[in-house]
Amino acid sequence: MRMLTGKFTRIVLLLLFLGGLYFLATHKHRQREETRQAPVVLTPGCADKLGRYGLASADYYQSPYLLQRTRTSMKVRGYSDEDVRAIQRGCNIVDDTQGTLAKDKGLERWNTTRFIRGSHASCDHCHQGIGDKQDAAGNRLKGSLSLGASWAMADMYDRFTGLLLPYELRQMQCYINSSNGYKPNIADDVIRDVTAYSRFLSAALGLKIGNHYEEQGIDEIAASATPKQGDDYVRGAALYRHKCQGCHGPQAFGTEANGRVVAPALAGPNAWNMQSRNYFHYVSTILPGFICRNMPLGEENTLSNQECRDIAYYISNLPRPAGDRQGPLMALQQQMLMAVMPPLMRLTGSGRSIEAPAPER
Ligand code: HEC
Ligand code: HEC
Repeated sequence: MRMLTGKFTRIVLLLLFLGGLYFLATHKHRQREETRQAPVVLTPGCADKLGRYGLASADYYQSPYLLQRTRTSMKVRGYSDEDVRAIQRGCNIVDDTQGTLAKDKGLERWNTTRFIRGSHASCDHCHQGIGDKQDAAGNRLKGSLSLGASWAMADMYDRFTGLLLPYELRQMQCYINSSNGYKPNIADDVIRDVTAYSRFLSAALGLKIGNHYEEQGIDEIAASATPKQGDDYVRGAALYRHKCQGCHGPQAFGTEANGRVVAPALAGPNAWNMQSRNYFHYVSTILPGFICRNMPLGEENTLSNQECRDIAYYISNLPRPAGDRQGPLMALQQQMLMAVMPPLMRLTGSGRSIEAPAPER
């Protein structure tokens, strides 16, 4: 008889446990559905961009950007209310990856901090113009990491991994390495929303699927595009001090004011990791290309190819998190360097701040 009650309690406990799991799953499911249905409060940048591109739920969509630039515009399939909210959330994610502007940090889906280790990384720091960088006249810019052009390319042969990567996987790589974080599930709303936003961008810009456009990716700078003086750490350090330190800080660990990022980290715990394509020793052409086209902010395109390579080489020799394929020893070494270097450099006076205009942001 005792044996029987023992068995009975065990079965009841098991059922309770399974019931709990079931309840948890349905609860999470309902929560996700609620956030999908909730109206989206746009960041100021997204309100401006999506407003200019005429995003609204309707039977068809006609791009104001195309109409203005080419005087012709096609009617394409429109968006439902649900599509519009997904596009809005996607824009918010790219513009405000860390959810700084989110009022309800727990619920608002664009708060993606759960996928990112550091407190600086934001898609818009690298994919500038909220993934759609343009000059004052509205021209798209070569090598500006455009998300619209990237979506239009559909599956991409990736020369580093040798794989054919869909748009979702390319996003996931950016969470893991460029943002030094964790991989969202491929079906996570975070991935779907950014995909929806990128697809909308390509419609707004009139890009045709399967084509390659100049604004996709980076305008890379190979060593062969320099006078072949070799990449130089010392020249890079001096240039960094004069051109970048005022914003990015004496040790390139980034600068913050009132808890907000003023200029993101280029090294240290908040920066991209050693497996990102931004890491010079992994791919030496991408970071120099980014720097030449996009920095110093406000004086873009003023550095020579050699200068950009020198700075990139210097930055990449500063300590940063190891990637997840480098193993625990490398991770430990980098963590130690990041802890020891800053006080050491302050002590020896190297990397001391120099006179530079304060960043306006
Ligand atoms: C520190 C800079 C950086 C950050 C932050 C960053 N990216 Fe990237 N992203 C890159 C670089 C560099 C590439 C690779 C470009 C190449 O291979 O030519 C890239 C590639 C991509 C691609 C593929 C582009 C293509 O055309 O193949 C997507 C999609 C993407 N990123 C999305 C994101 C999203 C979403 C976020 C925010 C969660 C993000 N990125 C954050 C630098 C960054
Ligand atoms: C006037 C301030 C300022 C100066 C000077 C400046 N930057 Fe930046 N930098 C920024 C800001 C702000 C961002 C974020 C991009 C954005 O929001 O548009 C940024 C982003 C970056 C990024 C993107 C990667 C990341 O960490 O997310 C790199 C790389 C970078 N800067 C390198 C440099 C280099 C190298 C120099 C010197 C040649 C430089 N910057 C000079 C303000 C500056």
